[in-house]
Amino acid sequence: MKLNIAVLPGDGIGPEVTQQAIKVLKAVALEFDHTFNFKEALVGAIAIEETGNPLPDETIKLCKASNAILFGAIGDPKFDNDPSAKVRPEQGLLRLRKEFGMFANIRPIKAYEKLLDKSPLKEAIIKGTDICIYRELTGGIYFGEKSLNEEKTIASDLCQYSKEEIERVAHLAFKAAQSRKKKVTLVDKANVLETSRLWRKVVTEIAKDYPDVSLDFLFVDNAAMQLILNPKQFDVILTENMFGDILSDEASVIGGSIGLLASASIGGKVGMFEPIHGSFPQAKGKGIANPIASILSAAMLLEHFGLHKEARRIQQAVEKSLELEITTSDISTKNSGVSTNRVGDFIEDFILHPEETNL
Ligand code: IPM
Ligand code: MN
Repeated sequence: MKLNIAVLPGDGIGPEVTQQAIKVLKAVALEFDHTFNFKEALVGAIAIEETGNPLPDETIKLCKASNAILFGAIGDPKFDNDPSAKVRPEQGLLRLRKEFGMFANIRPIKAYEKLLDKSPLKEAIIKGTDICIYRELTGGIYFGEKSLNEEKTIASDLCQYSKEEIERVAHLAFKAAQSRKKKVTLVDKANVLETSRLWRKVVTEIAKDYPDVSLDFLFVDNAAMQLILNPKQFDVILTENMFGDILSDEASVIGGSIGLLASASIGGKVGMFEPIHGSFPQAKGKGIANPIASILSAAMLLEHFGLHKEARRIQQAVEKSLELEITTSDISTKNSGVSTNRVGDFIEDFILHPEETNL
């Protein structure tokens, strides 16, 4: 298969982890006889610095001409601490999602055997957890009208959802559940919010098309508690944009490190694949960032194009690296861990020579 992949490394540790994902994809191309072409473009704070725009037109052009986008991370403390900044790195990411119609954000969370003791949660609670969050990504409060009065004393963000916006992501969640444990949990705040009541109504209707999948409901406050109290009860979690953002960071604690969590943003013509961690500016350039989230995002990219064997090989390589403790410091049990690059090299080697790779 031939794929043109737009690479948007972005800020902080984005470039160094993305570099490992590219290395791994190149190994897959070699081993499985595919052609993957990579072209880079600017996004985020670095794009603001160089062009004044967090998502330059050239970047949009490249993405439109590509089959998929491999995204690093964006964000810079410079902007976080300046509430009056008009141009922000995050706008680049939000615009990308909206322009390319990426309405579904898929975030798998799994407790790896080898890392059970890395989580602050008790082993008995997290062992066996395997959750997939379907987060609506182009609607809700993130994209509703915003306002600030002249005196700058009253602000508002509108949360709005249409039936169609709910339906399309719900279908994807139910389809995913069909090939998993056949359960969808809709997380909302239907005791308070009108949008949540619409979600319940629409999703209940859609559930009728999937008689083999069970549907239950949880209020978001309770869901936040249940996620750490009894995460094994979940299979697919379906939820709106902001609840999904918050719950997926919370759920990352189950895996032992946010540096492991990959995501896919799909729905439009071009899908985007990115780690769920942020730009982690404190670690930039130090070679300590965990590249696994980015590498597993590359595996999700391959899955998206039906390259299951190839994606599986990456997952096996990642599992092997955990087993042999060739890991960065965030999840290393032995010592201070190995470098970002070393993890990438090991995974690359495993893909090329799965039988021979031991250390
Ligand atoms: C995420 C991030 C983004 C979000 C930010 C950077 C805008 O936290 O992808 O989860 O809130 O969606
Ligand atoms: Mn987030």
